Amino acid sequence: MRFSRILGTGSSVPARVVTNAELCQKIDTSEEWIVERTGIRERRWIAEGSGIGSSDLGAEAGARALADAGIAAGQVSLVIAATLSPDYDFPGNGVLIQRKLGLKAPATIDVRQQCNGFLYGLSIADAFIRAGVHQHVLVVASEVQSTGLDVTDRGRDMTVIFADGAGAAVVGPSDDQAHAILSTHLHVDGTHAEDLWCEFPSSRHSPRLTKEILDEGRHYPRMNGRVVFKHAVSRMQEAVNEALDANGVTLADLTLLVPHQANLRIIHNVRDALKLPEAKVVTNIERYGNTTSASIPLALDECRKEGRLPAGSLVCLVAFGSGFTWGSALIRL
Ligand code: UT7
Repeated sequence: MRFSRILGTGSSVPARVVTNAELCQKIDTSEEWIVERTGIRERRWIAEGSGIGSSDLGAEAGARALADAGIAAGQVSLVIAATLSPDYDFPGNGVLIQRKLGLKAPATIDVRQQCNGFLYGLSIADAFIRAGVHQHVLVVASEVQSTGLDVTDRGRDMTVIFADGAGAAVVGPSDDQAHAILSTHLHVDGTHAEDLWCEFPSSRHSPRLTKEILDEGRHYPRMNGRVVFKHAVSRMQEAVNEALDANGVTLADLTLLVPHQANLRIIHNVRDALKLPEAKVVTNIERYGNTTSASIPLALDECRKEGRLPAGSLVCLVAFGSGFTWGSALIRL
């Protein structure tokens, strides 16, 4: 039986730190509200006018993952790029990342799935490698959300949360389950598509964007925060248990849980419901905000670099977001 495993990770965030105090100067919010409701103290946004796109952050994270894995550009046969904030409507970020890294990759796949983009990408990489179709797959999740946020009082619920960043993993073959992606579990419930979405530009309208739509702010992302929050807490618990049950292990066997960094209160609710000790649940939302698809690989990379995930560690990844989509992965590193 053939398996896949994570061979290396990398990440990249913009240098510009945006504190809560800076946002308080621009919109009607407060340090107390942001910290109490979200746990976020600062986030990274690209420098205004810098022209940095999500493919740039993604390429940097990808290069670092390749170096970490010791895999040469010529060995990668598939690039999977996940983002909700691509540089262009088309072509997708996979094409741009392949070009920027000079990868001789014969194939690329672009994944949406928002906060679950990395998990969906990892699952596709795992399936291709186990099927023997690809040997080395680069999975990149990257976002530049700051240029698409409504930095006015109207958009304050979204603007204080979302941020820019990228994370990547090189996935390759493994001979045994001692170092392998043990299982991935993906879910969707499209009845909630409009509870967290960005409506415009839209191919349902001609032209796809008008001055009226811009004036109404309907090109900005919008969220039914309370509904998303409630579902996130339930679905993430379920997905963790699903991954553990599928592999006959328990929470006590876990080295770390790496949850999508959506909101610190969501993470704490999931942690408390599962009765996991604080030390086993990874959080970095305080410093990076919600980087959507990038949040899991960014946190995973930090944990590996900090020595919190030595070889043989059992790690569970779990995410929930727009769609709704959610899922988990159980990995023996
Ligand atoms: O990553 C993808 C998945 N995303 C998530 O999982 C996010 C899920 N949702 C959330 O994290 C939370 O719902 C939010 C952080 C977005 C909002 O927190 P909340 O505790 O659910 O607040 P709320 O939406 O119920 O709003 C409470 C109050 C409202 O005022 P009133 O109507 O009570 O007077 C809002 O207008 O907080 C107000 N509010 C703000 N106040 C200060 C909303 N945003 C802000 C703000 N600063 N930035």
